[in-house]
Amino acid sequence: MQTVNRIDPLRSAVEALRRDGPVALVPTMGALHDGHLTLVREARARAAHVVVSIFVNPLQFGAGEDLDAYPRQLERDSALLAGEGVSLLWAPTVDVMYPAGFATGISVAGVSEGLCGAARPGHFDGVATVVCKLFNQVLPDLALFGEKDWQQLAVIRRMARDLDLSRPHADAILGVATVREADGLAMSSRNAYLTAAERAQAAALPRAMQAAVAALGAGVPAAEALAQLRDAVLAGGFAAIDYAELCDAASLAPLDAAGGVPGRLLVAARIGKARLIDNLPVPATRR
Ligand code: PAF
Repeated sequence: MQTVNRIDPLRSAVEALRRDGPVALVPTMGALHDGHLTLVREARARAAHVVVSIFVNPLQFGAGEDLDAYPRQLERDSALLAGEGVSLLWAPTVDVMYPAGFATGISVAGVSEGLCGAARPGHFDGVATVVCKLFNQVLPDLALFGEKDWQQLAVIRRMARDLDLSRPHADAILGVATVREADGLAMSSRNAYLTAAERAQAAALPRAMQAAVAALGAGVPAAEALAQLRDAVLAGGFAAIDYAELCDAASLAPLDAAGGVPGRLLVAARIGKARLIDNLPVPATRR
């Protein structure tokens, strides 16, 4: 596996890889876990070569958030990626990504506004800007993202459609199902912030979400199912809930009940130093 941290060698390396066939990009912020490695394996199954980017993007962290504390472990990550058959690791520094005078940003309206967008102002502008840059730097044929960040995936797809991106085309931006620990907790680099006691309590989140999905499927109105979910999550040891909503899976518009369109239950909740997000599908119940 080759590692590059400047744009010119990146472009030459990708050009050489493309001679063998399609190139897939898996953008990450590092601190890799099995969720990321699953993305890499999916990418390998679909492309001749896989490029992984590792960049902790300051633009997507708000004041007082965990930019400084975010785990950075490039050597360990690099060994994991080499073991997965990744061809190229793109690991730019902040100065390479945002040179002096950098003044351009991308803002995606609509899908970015509620949920994490409301709780973390500016977050999705930072995500859209860096992902657009990563796409333009690597020019991948396809790109893979985890469904754990459901809203992020919707924002990135909207951006690719609205800006007529061709590498990758919006249809080649693929979501991969969330990878979970044995007790149901979604894998996340931020799980590292949890103490052993908090880690044990954190399983209350997916448990309460599964119960809410079952209730919604049985026809319980969203307001009632979500109130039960909030009570269960707080009783399970979480300190606060940023949001718990049932939304249209595609537009992220709030829904009153499971119904004619595929829905998504999305939650963000705080425990100890961690803010955990998760989401589950809520199938349409009537036609
Ligand atoms: O999901 C992430 O790890 C980040 O938000 C991403 C997509 C790599 C952009 O920095």
